Amino acid sequence: MKIIYIIIIVLIVFIINIIYINRASILYMTNFFNKNYNKEGLPLAYSIRDEIIKFINNITDVKSFTFIDFGCGAGDMINEVYQLVGNVDGVEYHIPQAELTKNRFKNIDNVTIYPMNMMDYEFKQTNTILYLYEPLWQMENNIALEIYSKVFENLIKNKMKIYVIYCSAIKQKYLNMDFFSKYDLKLIKMKTISRGIPFMNNNLYFLET
Ligand SMILES: C[S@@+](CC[C@H](N)C(=O)[O-])C[C@H]1O[C@@H](n2cnc3c(N)ncnc32)[C@H](O)[C@@H]1O
Repeated sequence: MKIIYIIIIVLIVFIINIIYINRASILYMTNFFNKNYNKEGLPLAYSIRDEIIKFINNITDVKSFTFIDFGCGAGDMINEVYQLVGNVDGVEYHIPQAELTKNRFKNIDNVTIYPMNMMDYEFKQTNTILYLYEPLWQMENNIALEIYSKVFENLIKNKMKIYVIYCSAIKQKYLNMDFFSKYDLKLIKMKTISRGIPFMNNNLYFLET
C-alpha cells in the first residue's frame, strides 16, 4: 500500500514539474482551446524563453534588429520579445493558426505575421535574429534538410548582422555545426535545456555571422 502512495506522489511531482517549466505557453494556449488546433505546435517552456531573452538583452543596439520566428505557432515567443527588439516577423504555414496569431497581435505595430511557408520568406537587408524552434520536427530528415538548406541560402543573402537561435526538438535530427558552418555561421554557445521531462532535453544553439 505504502508503495502506491509513493508512486502517486512521485507522479504528481513529475506532472507539476512539467507544467511549471512549460507554463509560458500554457498561459497562452490558443492552440489547444481553439478548434483550429495546430497539432504541430509545441509548448514554449520558461527554461527556453529565459535563455533566449537573456541572449537578446545582451545584443548591442538590439532595437535595430528584426526578430524572425519561423514557425511562430500561437506566437508565444513573439509575445515575449516584441518589446525588446525593433520589429518582429512571425512566419507560420498552418493558415488557421497564422490567422489566429495575426489576430492576437493586431494592435501591436511592430509585429507582422506572414501566413506562409518559411522556405518562401524573403529576408530584408536588416540586422536579423532568426529564431527556429524546430518547426520541422515531424518531418523525414532528408525533406527537412532540403527545406532548411533553402531557408539558410535565403538567409545569407542578407549581408547585415545575423544571429540565429535554433532550438532542437527533443530528439535532435537535422541541424548541427556541420550544417551551420556551410553558411558561415559561427557558434557563440550551445546549451542543453530541460523542458521538465527527465532525459528529454532540447539543444539551444546561438550562432552569428
Ligand atoms: C514548435 S512550433 C513553434 C512554436 C513557436 N516558435 C514558439 O517558440 O512559441 C512549430 C511551428 O512551426 C510550424 N511550421 C512547420 N513547418 C513550417 C514551415 N515550413 N513554414 C512555416 N511554419 C512551419 C508549425 O505549424 C508549428 O506551428
